[in-house]
Amino acid sequence: MRKHIIDRIWSIILCRFVSDYIIVGYQKSCGLKAQANTNTFDLYRLNFLSKQGPNFQRHFPNLNYEIGKEIPELYKRRYLPVILESEGLHTGAEVGVFRGQFAEWNLEMWPSCTRYLLVDLWEHQENYADVSNVEKSKQDANLKRTIARLERFKDRYEICHNYSTVCAERHKDEVFDFVYIDARHDYKGVLQDLAYWWPLVKKGGIMAGHDFVYQRQGPKKTGQNWTVNYDGTVDHLGRAVRGAVEEFFGMENRTIYVTKWNEDFPTWIVRK
Ligand SMILES: C[S@@+](CC[C@H](N)C(=O)[O-])C[C@H]1O[C@@H](n2cnc3c(N)ncnc32)[C@H](O)[C@@H]1O
Repeated sequence: MRKHIIDRIWSIILCRFVSDYIIVGYQKSCGLKAQANTNTFDLYRLNFLSKQGPNFQRHFPNLNYEIGKEIPELYKRRYLPVILESEGLHTGAEVGVFRGQFAEWNLEMWPSCTRYLLVDLWEHQENYADVSNVEKSKQDANLKRTIARLERFKDRYEICHNYSTVCAERHKDEVFDFVYIDARHDYKGVLQDLAYWWPLVKKGGIMAGHDFVYQRQGPKKTGQNWTVNYDGTVDHLGRAVRGAVEEFFGMENRTIYVTKWNEDFPTWIVRK
């Protein structure tokens, strides 16, 4: 018992040291005012250490980057809200919400976000061979689950319950600091979401999205067919999300950053 307590104290001391070191390094490298960000980072420290423990550091291998331009190397998408918070950003949209799990994480870890828009159709769709395309009763349950899960953030989020394109059309250009694309996964569907949502991101803001893969990668392994486009055509090249993102941002001449964790469905990230 005594040994357990001593081990615990050591791990707390170690965690504090590691996180302090990272935070100071991060603030310096970003040129942020330490005072203005101290509270924010204290909150992170509590949140992160309770959830991540001493593994925190290895998820941020490189925190030296030019703020507003590059994106630091990230292992997992779970660390995106830390970047958003530390850059002093406030508005976000998640396109494709499902049961609100990632939304909950972002709202928790990005306390300065005052407006987080949740966009989802929550309807079964034709031509959408995806594990999340469940029957209507389950879609209703997903929406209910999302609302229950986000109860404690109810003043900071809003819902657009419709097609992603319809929701995008309801907003002016350059209103969001952050947009996360995770609705359709077919080549045409993703290209369409990028075309509708990219103009809505502020200059210097961040657009990201899930599933940076071709059909032959993650989707094939998990029995999903993302070659079926929303209009029923088939993309025989199997471009899926990755193909659409590469083509779209190739035309925009932007660097695409990808999370480094060895996972089947990485996240892509682009600075506007
Ligand atoms: C993969 S899930 C989203 C997962 C969520 N981002 C997360 O990480 O927890 C995809 C969601 O997108 C929604 N969706 C698919 N196509 C859509 C469209 N055209 N417009 C709006 N929502 C759509 C589906 O209803 C589904 O709930």
